Amino acid sequence: MSSCYNKYFDRMINFKSKEDDLWIVTMPKCGTTWMQETAWLVQSDFDFDKAKSIPLTERSPFVELEGLYEGMPPTFDAAENLQSPRLLKSHLPASLLPKELWQNRSKIIYVARNVKDAVVSFQPFLEALATFKGTKEQFIQAFMNDDLYYCPFWPHILEFWEMRHEKNVYFTSYERMKKDLKGVLKDLCEFVGKPIPSEEILNQAVDHLSFDSMKKSSAGKAMQAVIDGIKDLNNNNDSNFQFMRRGIVGSHKDELTADQIKSLDSWSEKFLNEA
Ligand code: A3P
Repeated sequence: MSSCYNKYFDRMINFKSKEDDLWIVTMPKCGTTWMQETAWLVQSDFDFDKAKSIPLTERSPFVELEGLYEGMPPTFDAAENLQSPRLLKSHLPASLLPKELWQNRSKIIYVARNVKDAVVSFQPFLEALATFKGTKEQFIQAFMNDDLYYCPFWPHILEFWEMRHEKNVYFTSYERMKKDLKGVLKDLCEFVGKPIPSEEILNQAVDHLSFDSMKKSSAGKAMQAVIDGIKDLNNNNDSNFQFMRRGIVGSHKDELTADQIKSLDSWSEKFLNEA
């Protein structure tokens, strides 16, 4: 975890949860931001104008991020003061999420992603945050050794996979969103108790949520601004980080060597066989 999290552990675990809260929980780089924008549209009756005019980081705060860098707007206050129903983001594993969330059975959307695509997306991100510097090989080793933010990867996913049939949990994947975003939108309407909108609105939503639109919109830009702010603070000019990087399924195929793919596959298989 980032060192600032130690300071805010108590505040997070004791965070006052509300029954109508909707949480987006993921491992980093698994499509969090994309799902935040998707879920926000559903929760907000597809108010595209509002989505375009207010940065996603304000509409859906990243709760435990408090104090990550100097001058950063407070995230707990933002989450506490958000108008209900709130849409909240966390990368924490189930066991570290606010206790009341489980008592209230607030709704949770979990998004998983192919581990190899998450890895290739994660490295430039952590380099931009100046929390990792090294080769791809070293990054993969660090990832498999659980040395990076929010790792271990598989237990994080499996905890929610086990809960996927609970009424308050919606489990999906980046890959499913790529394949059938309309289907995910319809599922989410049902999950949060909203009527499924007309085909026209659904098409508008799919367009709003496309990689190219989000790159230009308040959602993609807000995350880019957060990372650029941290980069400036660290005088980190080495990284040319693009938050909206590739947005595809299978990016590892031309970014990892056959050996790197093999080692991530056998590491995953070993974990999953024993789990
Ligand atoms: P890549 O780095 O593979 O491009 P997170 O929000 O969890 O940090 O995830 C970031 C990843 O989601 C990045 O993956 C980013 O490009 C991708 N992403 C964000 N919005 C997207 C969208 N509308 N469509 C497809 N991928 C998207």
